[in-house]
Amino acid sequence: MPPSEQSPSWLKVKDSSQKTYKKGLKQLFQEDPHRAHSFTFKESFALIDISKQWIDSDLLNAALEFAQEHHIDSLFKQVYMGSIFNKTESKEVLHTALRAEKNDTIVIHDESVIEKIDEVKKRIQLYSDGIRQGIIQGYSGKPFTDIVNIGIGGSDLGPHMVCDALRHFAQKNLNIHFVSNIDPTHISDTLSTCNPETTLFIIASKTFTTEETLANANAAKAWFLQSGGKDVSKHFVALSTNYEATAEFGIHPDRVFVFWDWIGGRFSLWSAIGLSIAISIGYDEFSNLLHGAYYMDMHMYNTPLKDNIPVILALIDIINTNCYSISTQAILPYDEYLRLLPSFLQQMLMESNGKYITKDGNRVQWQTSPIVWGQPGTDSQHSFFQLLHQGTQIVNAEFIICAQTHNPIADMHERLIANCFAQSAALMLGKSEQEVVIELQASGLSHQKIQELLPHKIFQGNRPSTTILLNELNPFTLGWLIALYEHRTFVQGILWDICSYDQWGVELGKQLAKQILPSIKDEYHSGHHDSSTTNLIEAYKAMNIRGH
Ligand code: F6P
Repeated sequence: MPPSEQSPSWLKVKDSSQKTYKKGLKQLFQEDPHRAHSFTFKESFALIDISKQWIDSDLLNAALEFAQEHHIDSLFKQVYMGSIFNKTESKEVLHTALRAEKNDTIVIHDESVIEKIDEVKKRIQLYSDGIRQGIIQGYSGKPFTDIVNIGIGGSDLGPHMVCDALRHFAQKNLNIHFVSNIDPTHISDTLSTCNPETTLFIIASKTFTTEETLANANAAKAWFLQSGGKDVSKHFVALSTNYEATAEFGIHPDRVFVFWDWIGGRFSLWSAIGLSIAISIGYDEFSNLLHGAYYMDMHMYNTPLKDNIPVILALIDIINTNCYSISTQAILPYDEYLRLLPSFLQQMLMESNGKYITKDGNRVQWQTSPIVWGQPGTDSQHSFFQLLHQGTQIVNAEFIICAQTHNPIADMHERLIANCFAQSAALMLGKSEQEVVIELQASGLSHQKIQELLPHKIFQGNRPSTTILLNELNPFTLGWLIALYEHRTFVQGILWDICSYDQWGVELGKQLAKQILPSIKDEYHSGHHDSSTTNLIEAYKAMNIRGH
């Protein structure tokens, strides 16, 4: 049973959480001198510190009992082997197969999934090598210099984030661009820096029906031809499950890199959708990304729940959301390379678990996904950290940092680390009235001024956070980190009893946009819409004096 009042094991979790909450972080640390160690997970290349979360052993044990009832381990194994877990779309959920070993056996519809994947991987390797070495060229015989990935959602956020995060490993003479927005400024800006002779367009769309992607792809094709480009087939490739639509667009089947229905969009960067990654960092490093994810898959597959990192992190998410009513989670990478991680995770976590209907089609009686957002530190310290420290809402903060930098300059990286560790300590410890008074007295302020300033300078502390420390950011550790979030998403979905692998919630807006478009285009009629929409359409027409 999910986190509802009818579930005895959940009631135990709630009961235990109240006791833990009353103590607060400072007391929890005082009571247990080994807390920092007991609530830290270690791998040779990573450490995860959950000691600053509102948990203790009793609470975690109660949560583990609750998790045990949900058969997470056996469910994961079934999903891994290809059971239909995405029930509302009747699909398997097999992104894990994309990073499995060649000798693994996963068979669905009487076909070896691993063999199919391997065929495409070989093509990705050949093609990406050819582009990187300048052997595969544009129509005028020049090597490609610019690669433009056109896609949106999972066909953009994953490869974009990974290419950006791993740019230290990238081939320097290749510029990788990502165009997603239907706002024409996005493609215009990108094309203004490209030369048609040396630009390759990757049209990435699982369905090949997505409005934004097709509009951008058509704009790119028109630009290519208008700028003197010849031989579209040399300059456009597709990543898709839809051969018919890619052919209709004019892409030769030899230039289509397929993936399959059993790969969800937001989990697809490991598939052909990762072509831009393979081109950017090379196939060997792309393989290392897959190995990192596989390492995490095996951890998830083989590790008992009590030591299972994604399971424990998901349990903490459930405790924060459903026991402590913390409805927001900040992803705070203290690493410039990970600046796109928050937006990537927004899709993974919120498109997966932002749902109010249970697997059986009933209204949930508990909160589901928190609102996920974030920005890299230290920039974020100078914008929204005020609220994290002294706001009225508690935010669950997740710090991610690497012990080593690829770009050492003076002591800057040490300063970055100090800032990151200082923030989680400040959130936990706060600053008491007494400490503030002593500090203000030392600065020579009058008694009256001290009394005036005092309430503003107190930090309550006791604000929860997790810190993920990687030895360095490389393809392996990044693959591991992403897979950690994927499995955490999976566990959350099971415990909240929702379908994590569909996304019906994005459909309504798409349908309405189709209905509204004719009214936007028609100079005289605003169509039959609700009165606010009609009002907006009319205002748009009045303001749009330049027309199309
Ligand atoms: O926004 C909904 C969605 O279906 C996402 O789940 C998906 O990642 C994105 O659109 C793009 O879809 P496609 O790859 O089919 O163009």
